[in-house]
Amino acid sequence: MKMIIGVPKEIKNNENRIALTPAGAAELVKRGHEVYVQAGGGNGSGFTDEDYLHAGVKMLPTIEKVYETAEMIMKVKEPIEPEYKLIKKGQILYTYFHFASSERLTKAMIENGSVCLAYETVELPDGSLPLLVPMSEVAGRMSVQEGAKYLEKTFGGYGVLLGGVPGVPPAKVLILGGGIAGTEAAKMAAGLGADVTIMDINLRRMRYLDDIMPANVKTMMSNEYNIRDMVQTHDLIIGAVLIPGAKAPHIVPRDMLKIMRPGTVLVDVSVDQGGCFETTVATTHADPTFTIDDVIHYCVANMPGAVPRTSTIALTNATLPYALQIADKGWKQACSDNLSLRKGLNVVDGKVVYKGVAEAFNLSHENVESVL
Ligand SMILES: NC(=O)c1ccc[n+]([C@@H]2O[C@H](COP(=O)([O-])OP(=O)(O)OC[C@H]3O[C@@H](n4cnc5c(N)ncnc54)[C@H](O)[C@@H]3O)[C@@H](O)[C@H]2O)c1
Repeated sequence: MKMIIGVPKEIKNNENRIALTPAGAAELVKRGHEVYVQAGGGNGSGFTDEDYLHAGVKMLPTIEKVYETAEMIMKVKEPIEPEYKLIKKGQILYTYFHFASSERLTKAMIENGSVCLAYETVELPDGSLPLLVPMSEVAGRMSVQEGAKYLEKTFGGYGVLLGGVPGVPPAKVLILGGGIAGTEAAKMAAGLGADVTIMDINLRRMRYLDDIMPANVKTMMSNEYNIRDMVQTHDLIIGAVLIPGAKAPHIVPRDMLKIMRPGTVLVDVSVDQGGCFETTVATTHADPTFTIDDVIHYCVANMPGAVPRTSTIALTNATLPYALQIADKGWKQACSDNLSLRKGLNVVDGKVVYKGVAEAFNLSHENVESVL
């Protein structure tokens, strides 16, 4: 089967990513699909219109034309108000939606009769979420880069170099949560020579990390007693905990700031789930930090947005295999054949087929099999 795929330019404030790289588009074109990208859509990620043209893509001048032309829209962020009216009945929307955080968005997608395949709920048999992983990887790696910067005196930090120098011990980095983001943070900090400790509550995970990490990374059980002890001596504390489907626990309460050294830097990667420091408040790249009790907080909710080129390529690497299945087989067949992709179906032809979304807004829930 041949599908017409449209990739609009993202219009959400400060969003520089695009849903498809020229390399990804070329794969779709090679299999006989037609790909249309909005002119200038890749500029924020360093991909020119010429790059797309070389990949066999056709450029369209406006967002309206892209929505009008395509059977499947590939995006990064959820559609926002000006896009609602452009979506056609039966059109496939393959993007991040995070429906449970917006009733307005959910109702709009019910009304327009589109087929909403949400990146964030595509789920592998082991329960992992393959289309969220790349962004956790980016945020985890970035947390050390940002933390190192704010540890510099000019930014208010304690004034230490992560790796130290000969004759001067390295800085101490504490990572709360040894999942995807925490592990990537640990690799970066260890690579720079820091003295790293990962705290988690999952002993199996810590056994694994202990096996694979270099000698300057230790593991420690996460509990209030241990955290209170460790924060007094650590320069950079990275929060990367996640309890699936729940708000992040406040494992660093406000009173712990008083026992930290002035100039300690906290980076809360978990900010998008409410944050694991009690004092966390979401910030933006334009104004990323604030200081409480002489402790610097970096709490940017969309860290990957600062490195759109890396993020765009990482996202396409993960989303493309599913996009190829949808394009080759049509969404119904692809979701019938692939249980992981089927879990991505959230709203289809006016019906809410993902339980968590229906529950969030007290809407009726239809079995996903009923729409296949
Ligand atoms: N800020 C951003 O830009 C950004 C980008 C991507 C992801 N994130 C967020 O980063 C967070 C981490 O994501 P992930 O993919 O690494 O999750 P993950 O599920 O891979 O890892 C979470 C880890 O936290 C551990 N954990 C749970 N409770 C704990 C506790 N009390 N103490 C210590 N560890 C605990 C779990 O055992 C697990 O190992 C999520 O909240 C995610 O939404 C933020």
